Amino acid sequence: MRIAVFSTKSYDRAFLEAATRGTGHDLQFFEARLTSGTSGLARGFPAVCVFVNDEVDEAALAALAEGGTKLIACRCAGVNQVDLQAAKRLGMTVARVPAYSPHAVAEYTVGLILTLNRQIHRAYNRVREGNFALDGLLGFDLHGKTAGVVGTGKIGAIVARILDGFGCRVLGFDSFENPACASLGVQYVGLDDLLAASDVVTLHCPLTPATHKLIDANALARMKPGAMLVNTSRGEVIDTAAVIGALKSGRLGSLGIDVYEEEEDVFFEDRSSTVLQDDMLARLLTFPNVLVTGHQAFFTREALGNIAETMAATFTGFEQGRDLPNAVEPAATG
Ligand code: NAI
Repeated sequence: MRIAVFSTKSYDRAFLEAATRGTGHDLQFFEARLTSGTSGLARGFPAVCVFVNDEVDEAALAALAEGGTKLIACRCAGVNQVDLQAAKRLGMTVARVPAYSPHAVAEYTVGLILTLNRQIHRAYNRVREGNFALDGLLGFDLHGKTAGVVGTGKIGAIVARILDGFGCRVLGFDSFENPACASLGVQYVGLDDLLAASDVVTLHCPLTPATHKLIDANALARMKPGAMLVNTSRGEVIDTAAVIGALKSGRLGSLGIDVYEEEEDVFFEDRSSTVLQDDMLARLLTFPNVLVTGHQAFFTREALGNIAETMAATFTGFEQGRDLPNAVEPAATG
């Protein structure tokens, strides 16, 4: 089957080529993001393969359908970038990679928490400049602190387990109680109670209408003063402007984000020689107590290998007309 791969980076190509070797699939790699403007590149391709910041909206889907595309294969877990209702109306199949390595994201999340708390990122720069002073690097013991996990699915449950290992009291907020968390002793509470009690709040829910700007000015006002907020889910789960306000007032103690609500215009490219046009992101980068990374929590060898293997199986299953175990229905994503 011919597959148009959008938003291709060298690592995508390497892993996808390895996983599809000998399968007979013909992958064409495009660096461009998929948008309604670039969808013409996929004309005549029965399948496209997209990533987190492709814009698979109704206009893009209509153009793809018109060009003969029937499968939207997302090489990621979240599918908020796809208009699932429109895809269904157009008779297209959408598939994703439900679990490629929840460990990759969970371990990275804890890395952000530790780095931010103990200011390892600042210490690294200081020492390289010959500054061995400790002023300003004071952290706190995670042991004995309360951590709130919002979304206790595959990733959240692993984060909960690691934080439990540190000796944290772990609170969970989710509409479904995950037995793996319950058996750990994670205490399920309402969001307000979680925010009020947690020293660290970490977000692991998908982006849906219900979670869009879940952490807004109201939620921030309900957080424990000086608490840490970490987001490795999707940027729009937090209201960045409100978060900046809470950081400026000192209400929010620190922020670690691997995702950003306007990231599609910035992330995944080297922009070091250009002027950053995004004023909100630029402001975030000025805070000493903010750590921003460019959507790399998933980026491990294991995760990329699993993503590519799942994509290869998806292409083959679809071509052979089999039911896809990783197909996504609009209702399933809330
Ligand atoms: P999952 O589907 O296993 O777990 C998500 C959990 O969130 C579920 O338990 C669900 O019930 C819960 N949830 C849904 N709506 C909620 C709400 N309104 N309030 C609280 N909880 C809610 O998904 P998984 O694999 O744990 O991934 C979570 C998210 O992490 C993905 O949707 C994706 O957006 C993000 N992600 C980020 C990556 C990165 O590189 N930064 C990589 C992979 C995923």
